[in-house]
Amino acid sequence: MHNVAITGTGVFTPSQIITNDELVVAFNAYADRWNAEHADAIAAGDVEPKAHSSTEFIVAASGIERRYVLDKEGVLDPARMFPKLAARPDDAPGYMAEIGVDAARKALGQAGGKAEDVDLVICAASNMERAYPAIGVEIQQLLGAGGFAFDMNVACSSATFGIQTAADMIRSGSIRNALVVNPEICSAHLEWRDRDCHFIFGDVATATYLERDEGLTTPHFKILGTKCATQFSNNIRNNNGYLRRTHDQMEDRRDMQFMQNGRKVFKEVLPLVSQHIADHMADTGITADDLRRLWLHQANKTMNDYIGKKVLGRTPEPGEQPNILQDYANTSSAGSIISFSKYSDDLQDGDKGIICSFGAGYSVGSVIVERRA
Ligand code: COA
Repeated sequence: MHNVAITGTGVFTPSQIITNDELVVAFNAYADRWNAEHADAIAAGDVEPKAHSSTEFIVAASGIERRYVLDKEGVLDPARMFPKLAARPDDAPGYMAEIGVDAARKALGQAGGKAEDVDLVICAASNMERAYPAIGVEIQQLLGAGGFAFDMNVACSSATFGIQTAADMIRSGSIRNALVVNPEICSAHLEWRDRDCHFIFGDVATATYLERDEGLTTPHFKILGTKCATQFSNNIRNNNGYLRRTHDQMEDRRDMQFMQNGRKVFKEVLPLVSQHIADHMADTGITADDLRRLWLHQANKTMNDYIGKKVLGRTPEPGEQPNILQDYANTSSAGSIISFSKYSDDLQDGDKGIICSFGAGYSVGSVIVERRA
């Protein structure tokens, strides 16, 4: 059995930002258009008019202030409300591969690793751009990596489940290292015309490089333990699968995009996650006093504040539980890795922390790490 370390992380951040104010202006213009088009049905009481969204609600309900996206123009066009991401020809890199490779190169660069030495690439994300060939294999080829690659999807927990999958292979000796890549183009599976959730997501890609913890000479994070759990729920669901026919036939099918019962998710996931982290800490033989940092899934600030308090048994000090969702919104599986990537350099030799993600499935994944200077 080999020990495993995280030696590098990388984040690709799109160049375009949508602020809450811009988003609300577009949504309200869309709602006004829709209400005008359906004025007769609204007057007859057949349909409800669409209500306006508000920046104040978005910040209070979620803590989100802005989000990065690959295409802002299409999302903010009240006549469209969907990113303009034209299908790429088969002989050009796909969107997920393109942004995933950028994050992967940054992770490799931090680790001082070489692409040709990579044994495994896992593309772990909450939605895939196509059925096959696997996006992971395309990333492997664009990087010039060796070994093998595959895709996996555990929604918002894809990154931590990917890390456990890769870590288990490194532990057993079948591979020496792995890149776990999380290209999350959430803007393409969010229903921007739904007031209840139009503010939730943003786009990003993250990558985590894992290696055998043997002879490492640069600062890294030793993996002390990984733990995954799932419990079936329909409260976060997207029915867009291979039985979908054409966009035209399905365009009124709301269930072909992200759907959630946000209140239920809030209530049901919190106890699951708190218990999961407590169990994982007990399995690993560490207590709350040993934890210097929590890098949590980034869906909702109130949720994270609650989990932080529950895990530590007190209100986290500033910086102990860094949030990035005010800038990135919910980026599905990538959120906890963005937080880890941006807020881990200052930890000292021996400091411990936990990366934890949770979401659709339901699914919860955690990785306990220790800084080695
Ligand atoms: N602007 C203004 N008001 C809005 C609004 C918007 N965009 N969206 C909803 N509202 C209103 C609702 O109509 C409702 O009004 P009412 O009380 O008069 O009926 C009120 O705000 C509360 O709506 P609700 O949907 O219950 O809000 P909430 O406080 O539960 O917050 C979420 C919504 C989605 C932010 C919250 O439930 C959440 O974060 N849940 C967990 C999400 C999560 O982790 N998902 C995982 C995805 S990976």
